[in-house]
Amino acid sequence: MSRHSLVILPGDGIGPEVMAEVRKVIGWVEKNAGLSFQIEEDLVGGAAIDKHGVPLAPETLAKCKKSDAVLLGAVGGPKWDNVAYNIRPESGLLALRKELDLFANLRPAIVFDALIDASTLKADVIRGLDILIVRELTGGVYFGTPRGIEDLGNGERRGVNTQVYTSSEIRRVGRVAFDLARQRQARLCSMEKANVMESGKLWREEITALHKTDYSDVALTHMYADNGAMQLLRNPRQFDVIVTDNLFGDILSDEAAMLTGSLGMLPSASLGAADPKTGKRLALYEPVHGSAPDIAGQGKANPLAAILSFSMALRYSFSRSDLADKIDKAVQTVLKEGIRTGDIMAPGATPVSTSQMGDHLIRQIEKTRAEAA
Ligand code: IPM
Ligand code: MG
Repeated sequence: MSRHSLVILPGDGIGPEVMAEVRKVIGWVEKNAGLSFQIEEDLVGGAAIDKHGVPLAPETLAKCKKSDAVLLGAVGGPKWDNVAYNIRPESGLLALRKELDLFANLRPAIVFDALIDASTLKADVIRGLDILIVRELTGGVYFGTPRGIEDLGNGERRGVNTQVYTSSEIRRVGRVAFDLARQRQARLCSMEKANVMESGKLWREEITALHKTDYSDVALTHMYADNGAMQLLRNPRQFDVIVTDNLFGDILSDEAAMLTGSLGMLPSASLGAADPKTGKRLALYEPVHGSAPDIAGQGKANPLAAILSFSMALRYSFSRSDLADKIDKAVQTVLKEGIRTGDIMAPGATPVSTSQMGDHLIRQIEKTRAEAA
């Protein structure tokens, strides 16, 4: 029986509701699959501001640093709109990414057949879509300095942020993307604005050099990020893996998410560097969706993105792709059976609450097990 430490940070809004469903899946895995978890639950975001006055308490951060994986729900909400900028809920999430050095953010966008009509795009354009965006997560304009708002003294103010990348920052995320492409269709598209930004020019040069020395078996293309945004809508299936910087990745991954019809379906993994001795990486798993304060506490949220994020944890942190496959497959079957939360509701489908969705999923996982036995 292998035992792993897990920190669960439900966060704000719908975070606690969806994480409660993840707990059911964890419970099933513990009971049936020979894994056991030492779980610590803690606060992040607005919930942490209310208790500690900061969105990420030092003790919470320390726990996360020691863990095998962190599972996060969502952060933020109107309640904290007026807190000081440097302690807003989002800054807790950003600090967690930065402090754990989780530089590679994996955001898969997969179109499930059963949800094909949920997309605003024509079914023919998106059927079978399966792309992976690898977003650099700890550099670029999100963290570059100088930054701030300065008073110019003449009635004018100036807001400054800095887009900055070093070659090693580009290369390490590039490696993750190339490695993942190798496990898929071996096609990687790198996106930047090399036509306007020096950081983009460097990005393109470094990715090109890495390709030449270490990854010439992968088919590499480059695209300006604006063209990439357009191509994602025009013909998304031309892509396999996309690698891009922090800000472009933020934007392009929201766009890719909506190709699939619902943000409520998309998981993500944020990974640090592999330990040279053990091969282990610090890791954070979270749904791409936000805290959805408008539906929080009503049992309306879709827990599948959070559950699929746990499935990514099984794949990338706990070497249990077999279990991840099982969960992913159960999600597809439940959708095929027409079990739906509001965000993916379709005519004739069965509307269910957040916790009913979790129960249906567990039942389905049980069933595939019984069939396999
Ligand atoms: C995301 C979110 C975050 C980001 C926010 C909540 C800080 O939009 O994870 O995509 O901008 O990275
Ligand atoms: Mg975003």
